[in-house]
Amino acid sequence: MITFRSRSDDSAERHGINPSEAPVVAVVSPKGGNGKTTVSSNLAVALAHRTDSVIIDLDVHFGDVQYALRMCPAHRLDDLVDADNRRDPMSMLSTHPSGLDVLCAPSDPVAADRMSVGDAFGVVDRIIAANRPVILDTAGGISNYSLGALDRATRVVMVCGTDVPSVQAGRKLLDTMRRLDMDLSHVDLLVNRSDACVGLSVDDVETALDCQAVLTVPEHSSLAAGMNSGSPVTESSPRSSVAAAFHRYADLVLGLDLAAGTRRGRR
Ligand SMILES: Nc1ncnc2c1ncn2[C@@H]1O[C@H](COP(=O)(O)OP(=O)(O)OP(=O)(O)O)[C@@H](O)[C@H]1O
Ligand SMILES: [Mg+2]
Repeated sequence: MITFRSRSDDSAERHGINPSEAPVVAVVSPKGGNGKTTVSSNLAVALAHRTDSVIIDLDVHFGDVQYALRMCPAHRLDDLVDADNRRDPMSMLSTHPSGLDVLCAPSDPVAADRMSVGDAFGVVDRIIAANRPVILDTAGGISNYSLGALDRATRVVMVCGTDVPSVQAGRKLLDTMRRLDMDLSHVDLLVNRSDACVGLSVDDVETALDCQAVLTVPEHSSLAAGMNSGSPVTESSPRSSVAAAFHRYADLVLGLDLAAGTRRGRR
């Protein structure tokens, strides 16, 4: 079992020891349907195989982590907001068979709009403070929720397809992050449907975005089937080549495979 240093314990820093805080991974892409939830759910299960981990669905209006993981949550993000400080949010998460703790989005957009972004992130911050790896799935576009996720992330997975609109939107997202003075050094490019012959190669995408892909995920029916059955391939076929890529990336996120870090982006 991997353990992480408490976020509230600054004694290690005082002694010059590099603190080992649990990663917070925001999975983003400016375009809808690029594969954020597929990536989030597979990566979260891969992390849960290594250590206690949490996934939070910040696609608050139409989140589908619930379906990707076939969960029937007793409590959702808005319930945790309503519970305010009366209950420990960690005790209100739902547990996936892999051991992953899951916080699903509100059941509908009206419920989502009843909570404020600030209150929602109050809950998110308390979960992050528990110092477990946290995956934040987000909606397409740049909303206050995706900006909040980017602000908190120690690592950002930017999901991009091999089509021109997706790449152009990716460029705009990176430019926006630069303009907002966000740190781009912890953005990992993931090229999804990397083998789709729709005009652009992975090299083309890397050149256009001026960064190397840390992870490439091919078009694979098992990923779509996994989403539809609520069973990510990292759970159902962990040894398949598609799942293995997520498992390797989970090692990288947890700092278990430093050699893989040589393919980090150039910016
Ligand atoms: N590499 C892939 N191979 C096959 N199918 C994929 C792949 N990536 C994603 N899909 C499928 O594409 C659809 C959209 O993926 P997903 O829901 O993960 O995208 P998203 O970015 O989360 O979308 P949204 O913006 O609506 O939340 C899903 O049906 C998913 O199963
Ligand atoms: Mg999604």
